[in-house]
Amino acid sequence: MTPVALVVLGVSLSIDPSQAGAKIDRNIFGQFAEHLGHGIYEGVWVGPGSAIPNTRGIRNDVVAALKALKVPNVRWPGGCFADEYHWRKGIGPRRTVTLNPNWGGVTEPNGFGTHEFMDFLDQIGSRAYLSINVGSGTPQEAAEWLEYLTAAQETTLAAERAANGHAAPYPVPYLGIGNESWDCGGNMTPEYYLSQLKIYSRFVRNFDPAQQDERRMLKIAVGPGGDGPRWTEWTETVMKAWQGHTWSWDIDGLSMHNYTVVKWPPAYKSSGFGEAEYAQILSSTLEMDRLIATHSAIMDKYDPQKKVALVVDEWGAWYAPLAGSNPGFLVQQNSLRDAVLAALNLNIFARHADRVRMANIAQMVNVLQAMVMTDKERMVLTPTYHVFRMYVPFQDATFVPVAFDAGAYTHGEIRLPRVDAVAAKDTAGKLWLALAHLDPSQPIEVEVSLKDAALESAVGETLSAERVDSVNSFEAPRAVAPKPFSAKGQGGKLTLKLEPKSVTVVSLEP
Ligand code: AHR
Repeated sequence: MTPVALVVLGVSLSIDPSQAGAKIDRNIFGQFAEHLGHGIYEGVWVGPGSAIPNTRGIRNDVVAALKALKVPNVRWPGGCFADEYHWRKGIGPRRTVTLNPNWGGVTEPNGFGTHEFMDFLDQIGSRAYLSINVGSGTPQEAAEWLEYLTAAQETTLAAERAANGHAAPYPVPYLGIGNESWDCGGNMTPEYYLSQLKIYSRFVRNFDPAQQDERRMLKIAVGPGGDGPRWTEWTETVMKAWQGHTWSWDIDGLSMHNYTVVKWPPAYKSSGFGEAEYAQILSSTLEMDRLIATHSAIMDKYDPQKKVALVVDEWGAWYAPLAGSNPGFLVQQNSLRDAVLAALNLNIFARHADRVRMANIAQMVNVLQAMVMTDKERMVLTPTYHVFRMYVPFQDATFVPVAFDAGAYTHGEIRLPRVDAVAAKDTAGKLWLALAHLDPSQPIEVEVSLKDAALESAVGETLSAERVDSVNSFEAPRAVAPKPFSAKGQGGKLTLKLEPKSVTVVSLEP
C-alpha cells in the first residue's frame, strides 16, 4: 500500500502590496539561441522546402510554443559561436558553408542568418539581442553589420539589405560586445578586453534615427563567469573604468554567466537520478544569489545609481550529454528538477530586479536547459517551458515584498529552504504569487495573508510530477504538465496546499 503523505502546516507568508519594489524587467525572461547542435538547425530552421510545417523555413510548432512565452529578447548567434561568426556569410541568395569548430566541428550552412533571425523574432514577437564578434572579427566588420541592419539612409549596405528583402531598418535594441572574452571569446585579460570594449562601444552604432534617445540600443559588456578573485577583478576593472568613462564610450549592462553544473566537465545526469542529485543540484543553483550579490556590490561601488544592469545572459543547468548524442551538441533531458531550478533562479532575479534587468536561459531549443525539444517533425514542451509560461504575469510587474519563514528541507548534509516565494503586481494592478516547494516527499500548507486586507481567493496553476526526475518525452509529452490550482479564503487568509516538488503561480484576489 502506498503511504498517504501527511500535509505539514509549515509556512505562513505575509505580503505587503503597499511596499512596491523594483520593476521585474520582462527581459529577465529572455532566451539564448546559439548555432550549436540542433539549437537552430532542425530546432528552429528547417528550410522552406521541408515537409515539417514552416513559415519561410521556420518551424510553425516551435514558433507557436514560444509565442505563448512572450519571449522578450533572444540572444544570438552565440555563445562561443558568436566570436567566430562572420555575418556576411549568412546573407544573400548564396550562403557560404563554414565550420562550427566550437560545437562538434560540424558544417555551418549559414542558411539561418541575419534575415532569418529577424524573421524568427517577428514570428514569435520578440526582440534582438545580438552578440557581435570581438574575438576573431574587427570593429569594422561589426560596425558594418549594424549599418546593414539599421541604416535608414540610402547607404550601399542599406540598399543591399533592401535587395535581400528588407527595405526598412531592423530594430536592434540590445548589443552584446563579445562573449566570454576571458575564455572562448579570445582569452583576454580584463585590461585587454576593456581596450577592445572601448573601441567597439565607440564604433558599433545603431544608425537608425528612430532608435535613438529613449529607444537607443543598449550595449552589454562581457562580465564575470563565476566565483572567486578572477571574476571580481574582471567586474572591478570594467566598472571602475566605466565610472570614469568619457562621452565617446559607454555601456548599459555587464553580463554574467553562471551555469548550475557542480563539477566540470558536466557529470550529473539529466534523467534517471534520485533525491541526492535533486538536492545537490538545487543547492548548487541557489549559489546564483550570492554571485549576483557579490558582483552587484562591486557595481554599487562604481555605479550607486544602478545605471548599468547586471545581465545574466547565460544561466541554467548543464548536465552530462545524453548517451548516444554528439557531446558537442549539449543535448540533455529536462526534468521536474529543472522546473524547480528555473523557478528558484527566476525568484532570485526578481529579488535583485533593481540590478538584474536582463537574463537569458541557455538555451531555447534542444540545447542544455531548453524550452522545447524537437525530433524531426515532433516537438515536446519541457518542464522548464511550463515554468516560463506560468511566470509570464511577472514580466514588467512590480516586485512586492513577501515575509516568510522558508522552513527547511534537508537531505543528508544538504539543507535547503523548504519553500521559496516571490510576489509582484502586474501592469494591470493584479497581485501574483509564485511558490517553489522543494520537499520532494511531503506536501505542505502555506498560509497566505495580505498586510492590510483580507484575501478572498487564489487562482492559477501548479506543476509537479511523480518523481523528481520525471521528464516529458515525445511518447508521454504531459508527464510534467501544469494543472489548474485554486483556493478560497477563510477569515481573510488563504491556505495553499502545495504538492511536493512543485512550482505554483497564482493570482490573489482580495
Ligand atoms: O551555452 C553554451 C556555451 O557556454 C556558450 O557558447 C558559451 O558562452 C558558454 O561557455
